[in-house]
Amino acid sequence: MHLLTLETTCDETAAAIVTDTLEVKSSVVASQDDLHRRFGGVVPEIASRAHLERILPVIHETLERAHLTIADIDAVAVANTPGLAGSLLVGLVAAKALCVALNKPLLAVNHLQAHIYACRMAAGSDDVFPCVGLIISGGHSSLYRCQGPLDFTLLGGTIDDAAGEAFDKVAAMLGLAYPGGPAIQKAAEGGNPQAYRFPRSFLGEDDRLDFSFSGLKTAVRYRIAGPGRPDFSQIELCPQTVGDLAASFQEAVVDILIDKSFAALKQSGLRTLCVGGGVAANARFRTRMQEEASSRRIQLHIAPLRLCTDNAIMGAIALERFKAGLFEDLSLEVFPGLVRNRAK
Ligand code: KG4
Ligand code: ZN
Repeated sequence: MHLLTLETTCDETAAAIVTDTLEVKSSVVASQDDLHRRFGGVVPEIASRAHLERILPVIHETLERAHLTIADIDAVAVANTPGLAGSLLVGLVAAKALCVALNKPLLAVNHLQAHIYACRMAAGSDDVFPCVGLIISGGHSSLYRCQGPLDFTLLGGTIDDAAGEAFDKVAAMLGLAYPGGPAIQKAAEGGNPQAYRFPRSFLGEDDRLDFSFSGLKTAVRYRIAGPGRPDFSQIELCPQTVGDLAASFQEAVVDILIDKSFAALKQSGLRTLCVGGGVAANARFRTRMQEEASSRRIQLHIAPLRLCTDNAIMGAIALERFKAGLFEDLSLEVFPGLVRNRAK
């Protein structure tokens, strides 16, 4: 069986073909980073228009790379929640049109569950469940109890910005390029993570599984140009200062993510942690999380790098819905959910 999956929740137009044995036949991701860079974040209207231009070429290329034709597709899956409304609609309408034209079943994908499913795919076994799922992306920072691939209960989430959003906005403050995560990681390599002591919200409050990153963002802002400075003037952002600020900010985010993940594991009594989403690509986070998990004897699955940021391969989670007979009809809608990372 060949499943075609579509992903247009935010600013990546992606398609993949996956078999029912989870073999990835092909995967294409068309990034829109160049379009959004000068705004320092995703502009929803630009994103949806770009999806519209790219969705058909991306599907064609995905088929070509798999050496298949559209007639070889047995089912179509699409991420319909959460995300930017206009972006989601492009994927959904394309998926519906294909299903009508081909007379094939339509399947829905929850983008957050898909981020965790990336860990399941990499592990090659259902043994990753039950687990605590940490999703850290441009739009979300959430902790879930995951009983199975489709059975998620929210344990906590951000009360303001997502971790990725904080990376993107702090990068903009430091004059670094969008997307900010990779840029901060690179700048931090030459910096001292102890140079500045930034706040870590709710740290050590084990009964509170929420995140908050807006205060941290403001603290970085005030270090650069704030009330303590004459006329709010900006400090000189020489490479060493940028490196120190980037490393100190990154360390604060990593401390918070680690603290809350282990608090969630303790509360839920689970011994397995799965992490997905763009921020999970962060090298400092991966190293420190691996060290912590092994010292606490926690089974850790962090999505492989190419499956951290948005892609359509993780949409293979729709095969679980296929097996469970959870098909959609043409009344399927988009559920944007939380507001995603926006331009400044
Ligand atoms: O999962 P994703 O591709 O899209 C959403 O679902 O939002 O995540 C994108 C986010 C961006 O905020 C980006 O800055 C962040 O992931 N990101 C990183 C890294 N690579 C991407 N953050 C920290 N370190 C990285 N290496
Ligand atoms: Zn995502």
